[in-house]
Amino acid sequence: MKPARHREVTFEPFEASSISNYEAKFKAAEEVASLAESGQVIGAGSGSTAFLAVRAIASRVRHGELHDIRLIPTSIESEYTIIGLGLVQADLAEVAPDWLFDGADEVDPDGNLIKGRGGALFREKLLFSSCQLRRVLIDPTKRVDRLGLNFPVPVEVVPRAASVAMAGLKGLGAGEVEIRTGSGKDGPVLTEEGNLLLDCRFDQIEEGLEDEINLITGVLDSGLFQNYSPEIIEA
Ligand code: A5P
Repeated sequence: MKPARHREVTFEPFEASSISNYEAKFKAAEEVASLAESGQVIGAGSGSTAFLAVRAIASRVRHGELHDIRLIPTSIESEYTIIGLGLVQADLAEVAPDWLFDGADEVDPDGNLIKGRGGALFREKLLFSSCQLRRVLIDPTKRVDRLGLNFPVPVEVVPRAASVAMAGLKGLGAGEVEIRTGSGKDGPVLTEEGNLLLDCRFDQIEEGLEDEINLITGVLDSGLFQNYSPEIIEA
């Protein structure tokens, strides 16, 4: 019998030269990788900082410092990074992570976050909800006095419900609600769940807004992460 073919994926989602604040992200990634222990199942976020952390963990595995590590990806991007670097992936349906690491777009003084610039907010939130120890890697540009200063809050909605959801979001105080479009594809960005992303600008992001957004018909989830009390790792 022929041996089973291994799935080969070579995929480098981010080139070092294209990563903003590379040095700071690299140091935070190295720091979180140093916290990994053999035998652990770790949630792997998406985006450039999380990518550097997966790479740092892969390097420790290659050097024999870690063994029996499994990573749960939060997007196709992170899944292909994990596979491409020869690491073993695990499925959230089968096992809960011991801890997770991920990046963020904004962090306020209380540790509330905006995430989802890369569109992976749903699976990132799923992982955040599935484990108690969440390590968020940032560079200094991610710190804000209040959320919403630099980034909109992305909201993932079922396409058929877009107009209903837009009205609901405006009703919650969103001044501007835009359907996210992409490069490399005409028209709206479709998420890995086949949904649209609505980027919403709020003047004020009050306590409880995350829950209120989730009550709108057609909303899957948002990139607002309130009260998850993550450990912030800033190099
Ligand atoms: C992915 O959807 C995002 O939540 C990222 O984790 C976030 O945008 C941070 O990305 P960088 O690490 O690339 O800045």
